[in-house]
Amino acid sequence: MSIKQYESYKVNELGHLTIGGIDTVDLAKHYDTPLYVYDVTRIRQNARIFKDALKTLGVRGQIAYASKAFSTIAMLQIIKQEGLSLDVVSTGELYTAIRAGFPKEKIHLHGNNKTREEFSMAVEEDIGCVVLDNFHDITLLENELGDTQHMDVLMRVTPGVASHTHQYIMTGHEDSKFGFDLFNGQADEAFTRLVSHSNIHLKGLHCHLGSQLTDSSSYTQASARLFKKIRQWHEETGYEPKVMNFGGGFGIQYTDQDPLVRYEEMIASLINDVRGRVKALDIPFPEIWLEPGRAIVGNAGLTLYSVGAIKHLPNIRTYVSVDGGMTDNIRPALYNADYHGVVANKAAKKTSSTVSIAGKCCESGDMLIDELTVPETEPGDILAVYSTGAYGFSMANNYNRFPKPAVVFVEEGRDQLVVRRESLDDIIKNDLSYE
Ligand SMILES: Cc1ncc(COP(=O)(O)O)c(C=O)c1O
Repeated sequence: MSIKQYESYKVNELGHLTIGGIDTVDLAKHYDTPLYVYDVTRIRQNARIFKDALKTLGVRGQIAYASKAFSTIAMLQIIKQEGLSLDVVSTGELYTAIRAGFPKEKIHLHGNNKTREEFSMAVEEDIGCVVLDNFHDITLLENELGDTQHMDVLMRVTPGVASHTHQYIMTGHEDSKFGFDLFNGQADEAFTRLVSHSNIHLKGLHCHLGSQLTDSSSYTQASARLFKKIRQWHEETGYEPKVMNFGGGFGIQYTDQDPLVRYEEMIASLINDVRGRVKALDIPFPEIWLEPGRAIVGNAGLTLYSVGAIKHLPNIRTYVSVDGGMTDNIRPALYNADYHGVVANKAAKKTSSTVSIAGKCCESGDMLIDELTVPETEPGDILAVYSTGAYGFSMANNYNRFPKPAVVFVEEGRDQLVVRRESLDDIIKNDLSYE
């Protein structure tokens, strides 16, 4: 099952946009703007698409939600309820998981420059797996493990696959800061160091190819390269991977221009490829692990803003400014990400003009949507920007000392605040006077 982008957004009898059955204009009035709103039903549906895909294919494995996409205690409680595993990349993400009561054995630690503190916390909390990225990682983990302690690890490799996505979200190509290079000797050296280690148990390989991928070609190319290396190691040492982790990267529809991504088909095509390679090698079928982030939360969230200043530049453009911007959604400024939206209190009205949605930060690049067709719009209108659920809140910042917005979850006609709006006192809470 694939869920169409705007399926959970409806228009009620007042002509207002609703999400998860709740009037977004009421939400904006009650919780103020800017406001992140998540449809929990949608998060659960997305999680189930991935879990069911493995189940339907009869494959053992783990779907680990990449919590960098959106990590809060309430969110991780839902991921726990849905039975997914979790990928964390910092003590902050790990701490959030622990405070959310997430099963530690289902937590995987990532990162291209893990610190001693991160390893120390991972070992102390006895998490399920560490994904080793480089030789420094191996040394730090060796130092951290006492004589009697063990850690399951995957080795992250860069398979040299250039996926068709923005340069900043491309990670599987050779010139990348992530992982051991697969074919220049690095991966071989790491493998030799790890394969018969007394405390570190090498369960398999990991790769992550980039984000916003919309078909399976990058995954199957990566599979070919990873198994080429596995064949070599199998012939040399008899090694059989227990786990093959192909990372995240499953794209979503941000706008009508983006294709509808069928995750179950992408996964089936990858598994099919792996089946052939495993058969050719005559080794047991490994567990398949995947790490979707964006695909779990991206289209489950929207952001509500209040419209303020409107500037008409005849024959150039009309700027409609809202009360947020690159502080709550940096993706358009960072990598030209496209978004779509609607004037939530006029969702049933005919659109009459094309405008540009501007943020309120002191940067010309703080634009949220380049071209959006809207009805007659005025200050006080509520603008909903769709599909902001991934990498919006998690990349939010306090530029211009704007407090970070609140987060509200809606499910089955109920809304609940799950992250409080930052106050002005929060903004200065770590500032100290200079005596
Ligand atoms: C190692 C790893 N896994 C998973 C993800 C999640 O990617 P996405 O949100 O595109 O699924 C990322 C994103 O940066 C990542 O670096």
